[in-house]
Amino acid sequence: MNYRHSYHAGNHPDVFKHSVLQRMIQLLQRKEAPFCYLDSHAGTALYDLQGEAASKTGEYVDGIGRLFDRTDLPELIGDYRDAVARHNPDGVLRLYPGSPQLVADLLREQDRMIVSELHPDDAATLKAHFADNDSIAVHQRDGYELPKAFLPVAEKRALWLLDPPFEQIDELDYCVEAVQLAVQRMRQTIVALWYPIKDERLLRGFYRSMAEAGLPKVLRVELGVRPTDTRMGLNGSGLMLVNPPWPLWEELEETLPWLASTLAQSGEGSWRMDWLAGQP
Ligand SMILES: C[S@@+](CC[C@H](N)C(=O)[O-])C[C@H]1O[C@@H](n2cnc3c(N)ncnc32)[C@H](O)[C@@H]1O
Repeated sequence: MNYRHSYHAGNHPDVFKHSVLQRMIQLLQRKEAPFCYLDSHAGTALYDLQGEAASKTGEYVDGIGRLFDRTDLPELIGDYRDAVARHNPDGVLRLYPGSPQLVADLLREQDRMIVSELHPDDAATLKAHFADNDSIAVHQRDGYELPKAFLPVAEKRALWLLDPPFEQIDELDYCVEAVQLAVQRMRQTIVALWYPIKDERLLRGFYRSMAEAGLPKVLRVELGVRPTDTRMGLNGSGLMLVNPPWPLWEELEETLPWLASTLAQSGEGSWRMDWLAGQP
């Protein structure tokens, strides 16, 4: 396990992933009924962007750094920026909330959160950080075990963020299997599976597998900050959204062009959104 998210916190994939995640939670909360949020590869709660790791890469500068001080944000991005700003009350960007913190900030009394993180340091930090919160259970275990261990949930509504580090060559295959299992165990599970886009050609098998996995609905959403033939690197990232809540895609239609042009590092930036299964 070499990957540490502290080097990457607040970068362009985090902006994309976290803004969409936050809106999904908000849409679930339009109903009073409780939900359970599962975060299988959680990282830690708060990242210090002035700390050694984040300063070394400076990735956040071209992510949250590009929009933190702006006042002309689309609503979905404005809500996300405000969530980050609440951790920086003096107006200076320093602390960045990871996915478990972002969702913990939104949980209502009736909602619940199950978090797993395999790295011992991050798991210990998370456990200590959320120790006083009875609604949050932190486990140091393999995140791929979560569907089998916890689905179906008593709340009848579940949102799973599957955000692995992609250190293994066949990680996408694991993801497809795990998502299939989750939906077999609880058909209405909402899944947000994040994936990196380096060379798009390498993703063709993954797209096919997701389309043919027997999932009820699959929305593919992608954001590119560089043309994919520019160089092998993180040229963009995607989210496979299984059973996404309405009207997320209508709002994303308006938000993604703005996000693509704001986060572009070369050229104009790009985006796409289409249904791989179960178009409503
Ligand atoms: C991309 S980071 C997570 C970022 C976090 N979800 C966020 O959005 O703020 C991936 C995390 O998965 C952890 N990890 C790696 N393999 C794991 C596994 N098998 N089970 C659980 N966590 C794992 C890594 O230590 C790392 O913290």
